[in-house]
Amino acid sequence: MKYFFVLGSNQALSLAELFTVLPAASRGKVLNRTVLIAELEDGFDAQQFIKKIGGIIKIGVITEEDIPLYSTEMVEAVKKMLKPSEGKYKFGISNYAKYASPAKDKHLAMLIKKYLKEKEASCRWVIGKERVLSSVIVEQNLMNERGIEIVIFGDYKKCQVGKTLAVQAFKDLSYRDYGRPGRDDHSGMLPPKLAQILINLTGAKPGDKLLDPFCGSGTIATEALILGHRDIVASDISEKAVADTRQNIAWTKRKFSVVDAKEIVMLIDAKKINTKITAGSIDAIATEPYLGPQRGAVNQAENKKELEKLYSSALKAFYEILKKDGRLAMIWPVRVEGVNKIFLNPDLGKFERLNPLVNEYKKEYKNGFSQRGNLLYGREGQKVWREIVVLKK
Ligand SMILES: C[S@@+](CC[C@H](N)C(=O)[O-])C[C@H]1O[C@@H](n2cnc3c(N)ncnc32)[C@H](O)[C@@H]1O
Repeated sequence: MKYFFVLGSNQALSLAELFTVLPAASRGKVLNRTVLIAELEDGFDAQQFIKKIGGIIKIGVITEEDIPLYSTEMVEAVKKMLKPSEGKYKFGISNYAKYASPAKDKHLAMLIKKYLKEKEASCRWVIGKERVLSSVIVEQNLMNERGIEIVIFGDYKKCQVGKTLAVQAFKDLSYRDYGRPGRDDHSGMLPPKLAQILINLTGAKPGDKLLDPFCGSGTIATEALILGHRDIVASDISEKAVADTRQNIAWTKRKFSVVDAKEIVMLIDAKKINTKITAGSIDAIATEPYLGPQRGAVNQAENKKELEKLYSSALKAFYEILKKDGRLAMIWPVRVEGVNKIFLNPDLGKFERLNPLVNEYKKEYKNGFSQRGNLLYGREGQKVWREIVVLKK
């Protein structure tokens, strides 16, 4: 069966995460930069899968391929998907196709309404502010037996039609982001989605031992629990961070019914973590380290030197405690000064740098990569961007 994956706002990052977690998806095709369509084996569970991947907004099945936009074939393909049941039947249309027109989408909606009336079904067309429905609208109105989100992809002559099976669990993500008790707005906390992406980029499997050596409030540790990891080590140089992480882990376990997890949270400088953790015992490291001052004027040269020194020493210690072939996904800050971006160059030692996406995507998503091929995350106007570096022992 063919499935579609609507990519998050940083499409290159979403693809890199998806291909690491689900290698079969890398044989698929990207349409209009926003969606990947891939043939997958039977038994793929979209609703479970979307809970474990930070960079995907919607997943669904493709029911008809290569038909012209707004053609009679398209209307027939859409009709085939409608399954009106007792009570009010709700439908929405998200048109991602290149030449989609709101007026023509409306016409399609009217044809659907007419068809449903003929079937004696009472119905409602669910609309949003944008041409495509947000996951919030879809989740609240259409993700049940009495609703459907019809999706259209492609360009004018060759379109794909399908229906959504699962949308990102935005309510849970936001609850974990804003509801957790241990907070540190001064050091900053990773959004849970980005924590999931970072963990997934390491390729770690649930049975693996996963470490975050700059754990802060513990977002990586708690999202790892949500993703199904049960063997977690988190550490930080700050006592408050260690206390916050312990509190947030306990909260996550309680609120999300996590059982059988084994976690160690400790106070240690990341540069010396090899004195507390046995050599060759860690499968994967996912971490957002100290990124330099977050407010006020920054001496760029001094900051760069300080961070490069910290990261170089920490990387040396990480290399020692990782297993052979163990992976590390790490965020490096990229400070913006005028039109220039200042990249860090810590010493990678014997680490091998991995490129999670093949070159063809680098042309497609120019802003998604740094010149040296690492994934890049940021928006125009932001003072600090993030380079996401994936390394292998
Ligand atoms: C950007 S914060 C991490 C935030 C975390 N990802 C979260 O979502 O809560 C960086 C953390 O690195 C810690 N840190 C700074 N220098 C360190 C060092 N040498 N060793 C270990 N932790 C350090 C800080 O105490 C801070 O908690």
